[in-house]
Amino acid sequence: MYNIRFQSQNNEFEPVLIKGIPAGLSIAEVAIESDLYLHHNCGLMCACSSCHIYVNKGVEFLEGISDREEAFLERANEPNEFSRLGCQSVLLDGEGYLEVTIPNQDKL
Ligand code: FES
Repeated sequence: MYNIRFQSQNNEFEPVLIKGIPAGLSIAEVAIESDLYLHHNCGLMCACSSCHIYVNKGVEFLEGISDREEAFLERANEPNEFSRLGCQSVLLDGEGYLEVTIPNQDKL
């Protein structure tokens, strides 16, 4: 099980800690199921860059980045070394703590 602290890049919502998340879910799925707004224009299919997030802590608990994800990340707004696509950030078997920043959702 995982605990993930979500925060908003531009304070659209107060930081929130989601607890007890099972492996196998993506960060995008967790955010959406927790009513945290995150664009997902292609339906979580790794075919856009709208679910771009920053994984500030705990990236080691996620499946590795694919060439396809990398290509779409290059088209994201303000990518940096913490950037991932939320729908491709799938939690591995195990347990841990992650910190995720959701970028400004107005820019898309
Ligand atoms: S929702 Fe389109 S790549 Fe994640």
